[in-house]
Amino acid sequence: MPIPTIHVGCTHFAHGRLQAQINSKGLNPIACVDINLPAAREAVAGLEGDVPDYLTDRIYTTITEAKEKHDAQACLIYASTTVHAKLIVESLNLGMHTLCVKPIATTQAEFQDIIRAHKANPGLMLVQGQNKRWNPAAAKMREWLREEGGIGEMLAGECRFWIRQNLYTGPDSRQPDAYVDGLFFHAGTSHQLDQLVAAKGLPKYVTAHVHNRRDPELGQIEAWGTAGGNALMEYANGAPFSYAGTRAAHTAPFGWSGHWTFHGEDGDLRRDAGHLQLFRLGKTIEDVSLQDLHAGLIEDDRLQFDAFAQAIANGTDQDWMQDTTLGTWILMEACNESARTHEKVDVEAFAKTMLDE
Ligand SMILES: NC(=O)c1ccc[n+]([C@@H]2O[C@H](COP(=O)([O-])OP(=O)(O)OC[C@H]3O[C@@H](n4cnc5c(N)ncnc54)[C@H](O)[C@@H]3O)[C@@H](O)[C@H]2O)c1
Repeated sequence: MPIPTIHVGCTHFAHGRLQAQINSKGLNPIACVDINLPAAREAVAGLEGDVPDYLTDRIYTTITEAKEKHDAQACLIYASTTVHAKLIVESLNLGMHTLCVKPIATTQAEFQDIIRAHKANPGLMLVQGQNKRWNPAAAKMREWLREEGGIGEMLAGECRFWIRQNLYTGPDSRQPDAYVDGLFFHAGTSHQLDQLVAAKGLPKYVTAHVHNRRDPELGQIEAWGTAGGNALMEYANGAPFSYAGTRAAHTAPFGWSGHWTFHGEDGDLRRDAGHLQLFRLGKTIEDVSLQDLHAGLIEDDRLQFDAFAQAIANGTDQDWMQDTTLGTWILMEACNESARTHEKVDVEAFAKTMLDE
């Protein structure tokens, strides 16, 4: 039985996520929420495939009203970034498993509000939506990092992310990433380093810096920490991992999945988007080209939603999905903390503070 869900946010990027829910087998949207009702009705009418007949008549302006009228078990939040935290708290307090697209919070205080609401509702899953860890290329990298037959113990690694992203969405409109501080790590880097956290967990320490680039053509104007950043992580076994990323580059050679190399006890790994190679003792052991991100990311989210449904229904990878996606938020905020204070951050201690432990 698919899990009945409330879907929040119906237009723009959020519209593709509603389509992904329609395409998924595990979730069934039984109501939608959007503050812009006319635009939401038009967006819902434009969905394709097996769309429930009732959906256009079940669009509400608040999660509370939708839940009063329809008994949903889960809530998926794809509204604008600046309202995520309060919508997550509302959803959890209404008793629903909640998945909200990254970044679930834009400040430490917001994150702690979410954690308090989650602790008050301990049986519910809380997931930060990270759609780029689910495709076959990302899954292969994770396999080589975690399982037998891969690189063995990680000794060192690096990731480079380099794109040119315009933060203007229209003549007078910009993505929150253009005016909310600290959203490079949370909304740029999280797409790559979530895959590191998914495979290797959190590092012990991080030292990070943000870039000072201003490019008015791209909407990179006044916010702190929105254009790019570098970070040096240290894992508990002493392995360093370095990251260099920008979304205000002059060109876009690596794409959203980035370029990766890992050096391990038993092998080395190289990845450029969907192209992955595993080397051992001077030989190429595997050289594969796999599906990386789909255009529009709808299939990536369909995979994520089906995994969320399995986690709720059978407990499959429930702790991993919840802990590592919340861990990604904590690591991104630890990068911001280090860049603001010019200090090395003890990630384990920082995580305890964020998780109120
Ligand atoms: N994971 C990714 O790859 C990726 C890519 C793009 C965007 N995003 C994120 O997805 C989210 C949605 O992006 P978007 O471009 O569709 O944003 P958007 O600002 O266009 O908002 C989407 C919808 O949410 C509605 N909305 C706003 N506030 C609301 C509220 N309080 N309650 C209910 N509905 C509300 C809007 O009316 C709109 O229809 C953002 O947080 C964005 O950062 C993620």
